[in-house]
Amino acid sequence: MRGENEETIFLKDYAETPYAIERVDLDVRIAPDTAIIRALLTLVPRRGTEPGTPLVLDGAETLALRSIAIDGLPLALTAYEATPEGLTVHQPPTRRFVLETEVAVESEKNIKLMGFYRSSGTWCTQCEPEGFRRITYYLDRPDVLAPFKVRMQADKALAPVLLSNGNLVEQGNLGNGQHFAVWEDPFPKPAYLFAMVAGDLGSIHDTFTTASGRKVALGIYCTHGKEDECLYAMDSLKRSMAWDERRFGREYDLDIFNIVAVSDFNFGAMENKGLNIFNDKLVFAKPETATDADYINIESVIAHEYFHNWTGDRITCRDWFQLCLKEGLTVYRDQEFSMDERSRPVNRIEDVRQLRQTQFPEDGGPLSHPPRPDKYKEINNFYTATVYEKGAEVVRMLATLLGEAGFRKGMDLYFERHDGEATTIEAFIKVFEDSSGRDLQHFQQWYLQAGTPELDVVDRYDAAAQTYTLELTQTNPPTPGQPDKQPLVLPIQFGLIGPNGSPMSWTSVSGAEVRDDLIVLDKASATVTFTGIPNKPVPSLLRGFSAPVKLTTNATEADQLFLARHDSDPFNRWQALQDVAMKLMVDAVGGTAWSEAQTSALAEALDETLNSKELDPAYKALALSLPNDQAVARQIATDVDPDRIHAVRGQLITALVARLAPALEKIYLTNDSRLAYSPDFQQTGRRSMKNMALSLLVQGGATDATRLAREQYSRALNMTDRLAALGTVVHAWTDDAQSLLDDFRDRFTADPLVLDKWLSLNAMASDDGVVERMRAILAAPDFPRNNPNRLRALMATFGMNNPTQFARTDGAGFRFLAEFVGDVDKRNPQVAARVLTAFRIWRSYESGRRAEAEKALNALKDSGTLSRNTADILDRTLAG
Ligand code: TRP
Ligand code: ZN
Repeated sequence: MRGENEETIFLKDYAETPYAIERVDLDVRIAPDTAIIRALLTLVPRRGTEPGTPLVLDGAETLALRSIAIDGLPLALTAYEATPEGLTVHQPPTRRFVLETEVAVESEKNIKLMGFYRSSGTWCTQCEPEGFRRITYYLDRPDVLAPFKVRMQADKALAPVLLSNGNLVEQGNLGNGQHFAVWEDPFPKPAYLFAMVAGDLGSIHDTFTTASGRKVALGIYCTHGKEDECLYAMDSLKRSMAWDERRFGREYDLDIFNIVAVSDFNFGAMENKGLNIFNDKLVFAKPETATDADYINIESVIAHEYFHNWTGDRITCRDWFQLCLKEGLTVYRDQEFSMDERSRPVNRIEDVRQLRQTQFPEDGGPLSHPPRPDKYKEINNFYTATVYEKGAEVVRMLATLLGEAGFRKGMDLYFERHDGEATTIEAFIKVFEDSSGRDLQHFQQWYLQAGTPELDVVDRYDAAAQTYTLELTQTNPPTPGQPDKQPLVLPIQFGLIGPNGSPMSWTSVSGAEVRDDLIVLDKASATVTFTGIPNKPVPSLLRGFSAPVKLTTNATEADQLFLARHDSDPFNRWQALQDVAMKLMVDAVGGTAWSEAQTSALAEALDETLNSKELDPAYKALALSLPNDQAVARQIATDVDPDRIHAVRGQLITALVARLAPALEKIYLTNDSRLAYSPDFQQTGRRSMKNMALSLLVQGGATDATRLAREQYSRALNMTDRLAALGTVVHAWTDDAQSLLDDFRDRFTADPLVLDKWLSLNAMASDDGVVERMRAILAAPDFPRNNPNRLRALMATFGMNNPTQFARTDGAGFRFLAEFVGDVDKRNPQVAARVLTAFRIWRSYESGRRAEAEKALNALKDSGTLSRNTADILDRTLAG
């Protein structure tokens, strides 16, 4: 098998290219089957380059070289070598020269969806991280920046729309039905930000006037007939543009900003300069087919890609090890945008849930890596939750440490100092050091060290001395390749709450850096002592989840229930309820059953939350959602038996619903609105609360609840309500689950994005028939076997969100997923490798399942040649 001897790339080996590219002129003739790409690269040796140093350009198996010349003179065969890996010019000129190559590329054969490919008739590109080399020979790395000018030509009937980065400088008709467009991007950029789209597309248009008065033409391009479904994306774009001006003082910098929606895309979306390309599921929305969650995702990804214009495009990464320089920062920015547009506490809880669900298992398993890794075999495998989500948490901690104004000051300096550059994490940290005068070298370790820190806090009250003490200890467990860790800098937001529920103050505090509401723990342990404390307080620790750690404390259940009632920090109020429920479940799985007093105390706290007048419905829905099976499994961590966890969680829900059913029914009825759909925060919140109530009633076996769900399913006015009802029924796998699933498929046969929802529901069913049904779905002759959205909707959902059936004791779930990966790997290695990461938790299972998982992984290893993507994930999964 391949993989073991593949070359590893190391950060420490970073060196500039011997040649710089001063400008790029592309001439692209697009036609069915084959495109001809002529590239004129103006190259110049960098200072210090030895005369005669070979020029080595990246290439790929997609390129067929048709001609090559330097300064207009064709090269002799002995002067260069072209291979599927690249192009070497043995003795380039010692001064500025123009390299001219012409290659042929077969776009329709490109089913990997990297480089130049065709998606449902539309030609498009995906170049990040290493796709440009599949379009032409180039120095395909992020620190080679050049202005691009592109002339595109195609049949006008086949491709009336011709788009690329920057500004449209010329266009016209040619003879024999051909036409052309010339696009020029004045901003030097790395090749990964290049984009080109050609096709017969519909579009919507709008304008945005920037703070300094530049009028920007906005366009969203899509399949004909889908124009109306792009309006929410356009609205989100305009709000994003205004927000970046308000919050970060960043204006858009070109006269045109275009977005194109395509159906076949390996990721969510891509921030190409002035021409973002989107997976269509993150653009199209109408109430009948998109859920509230879809609207929320569209808003946040539109913002994310737009924000990259400054954090990614104007300032990019020196090398791919620095990926989180743009991704972590841009996720932080899009999270802040969505918080400002919707609700800070609700969004924070959801972001933290996502972090725990996706990043914590990554960081605690064989694929653990630092936000800024120092080696990789396949960069595509590092577009991870750690780089994105933990990267965002690190930026958030920086903002917490520096305060809002201090953080903004540092960001201003970042834009001023590094505009137009390809830079590093060290340079990013340095701007905050210089702007704040604070030493952040120790803080920087967050970027370099993998693993989730464990923070333990024990409190003590001395009534005689009127002192209150917190003993804080952090542990940083070893991760693959990093056996020994340093303590990290943990910003711990906190408050002390007095017996009457109001905040408590102190006369003095010692033992660590403590500000009003923040303890900074920068050592392995510290004892923080507060004086002048008249009564024993209850501490509220890690408010707002101010550091991405696992917190344990000596709080009692009574303390947690007290926090659930009185904490002024909404995040910790929510967390306290989660902690109580978690403890009951973990203890029960371990054999210690809960008492009735315990479940009624939890039910009472939930009831009180539901009745609160000041809390939002969206918040109440989150309060009602108990930690899911996977969260309980993570807490248990070893010898996990998913069936047992599933059963215990079901029992807890039944016990709670026995007490809460009347309250839940009331919520259900009072929030079941027939108002015209709007995706705003208030309506969305009422729907989530109502649907959460419904799901609990069904799971808890309340009388008539399945009838309610069935009725909601058939009379729903929007997809949110329809899918929630159906999901509830399928999850519980009631008698009519299959017939409702069939009905859903028949209603929406024509819409591939709704088909994805159907596929995901099939993948989440909890009954023993699920693997067989999924096999049948995949085997159907008309299953779209090359479309990433369809494949992920079925298989990534199964691996990540069906804990009991994926980990069946007979190994059938593991085998099914591993065989699928082996098959898809031959067509789309990126999708295959990503689905395979579902196995990252395999060592946490009890021994029987662990053995089955290992068998499935080894069978995949022995099954033949795997892509570098999949081999890399597989090797690390087995080794770690
Ligand atoms: N830069 C993109 C984003 O985060 C990510 C991306 C888009 C990507 N397409 C990709 C990453 C293909 C790897 C491969 O917004
Ligand atoms: Zn991004």
